[in-house]
Amino acid sequence: MQKKLLAVAASAALAFSLAACGGEGAGPAAGSSDDSQAAGDVTIGVAMPTQTSERWIADGNAVKEGLEKLGYKVDLQYANDDIPTQTQQIDQMITQGEKLLVIAAIDGTALTSQLEAAAAAGIKVVSYDRLIRDSPNVDFYVTFDNYKVGVAQATSLLYGLGLTDKAGQPAADAPAGPLNIELFAGSADDNNATFFFNGAMDTLKPYIESGVLVVKSGQTDFAQVAIMRWSQEVAQQRMENLLTSTYGGNGDGLAGVLSPFDGISRGIITALQGVGLGPSWPQGLPIVTGQDAELASVKLINEDIQWSTIFKDTRKLADQAVVAATSYLEDKQPTANDTTTYDNGIKVVPSYLLEVDTVNKDDIKPLLIDSGYYTSAQVESGS
Ligand code: BGC
Repeated sequence: MQKKLLAVAASAALAFSLAACGGEGAGPAAGSSDDSQAAGDVTIGVAMPTQTSERWIADGNAVKEGLEKLGYKVDLQYANDDIPTQTQQIDQMITQGEKLLVIAAIDGTALTSQLEAAAAAGIKVVSYDRLIRDSPNVDFYVTFDNYKVGVAQATSLLYGLGLTDKAGQPAADAPAGPLNIELFAGSADDNNATFFFNGAMDTLKPYIESGVLVVKSGQTDFAQVAIMRWSQEVAQQRMENLLTSTYGGNGDGLAGVLSPFDGISRGIITALQGVGLGPSWPQGLPIVTGQDAELASVKLINEDIQWSTIFKDTRKLADQAVVAATSYLEDKQPTANDTTTYDNGIKVVPSYLLEVDTVNKDDIKPLLIDSGYYTSAQVESGS
């Protein structure tokens, strides 16, 4: 017990979040099946999708650090966005006797047999950021409020187009329109992508119905606008095609683009720049949204090229994953703050949802630099 308390004290930030969640006494407890097992003998598997996007590197490092501070060993794996690589990594974690799994899935529907094996071995599974679907063996879900992310993205688009204020209240001097926009969504195999898109579309709908906003290409269905694996290149290609098919090859009349992820935003911006985005652009810069506050995009926001992004503080999500993991390893149930929203096709998975912040140029300093997430030198260089 003393050892437990010492280790908890070693991490003030985590101790705070544990206390905030009522996880009294949570710490480097014994493995769930053997009460005499010390934390140092327990390995936790952490499966992350890819290192091509900064956010997952930050997530992986923060989860690893949080668990290691409590004395656990951590097996952190990245899968290059390749489904067989991820399933193999998880198979291996199970055969190696790892005591708990924290998984950010590539394809949310591809892990059913892995999770069955985990459950048979008494291994708890925490779904990280992305919901694992079609399996009864997902024990807990830690994530951001994904529907609200979509609302925030659409609100930011409306704000950029002068239709609302930053909080989403109608602007007094709003343009009458019609304003042309295009829509992009994330990877169809990622449960989050639909939540983002639904949140955004519910917010844009009144403006589309009244004719103030027009999706000129007519492509408004999720299936038409989804970008597989959130690929920057595929997004660039789609934007180039839209410019040719719908905007006279030079972007004429395009006012804004709803983008669900900074990588996709950069693909869109590259396509726009390819047809002359810049001082010669007829009606100013189209408004492009984003998500994740990736450095390369924060730099573009700072330079007035990308309009906004959504900041998800991965440090907070990692803390929640550590709290959930620690609870299970102490044979306790982690505290959920949502037990109705995330139906994975088989069951509603108890979830802990975090809030997000929208970042425009003015928010970079207070939200990203002053909070220690990035240094101003990083924002300037974009890396
Ligand atoms: C995450 C987003 C991220 C996207 C692409 C989603 O599941 O929630 O934060 O932008 O994946 O990596």
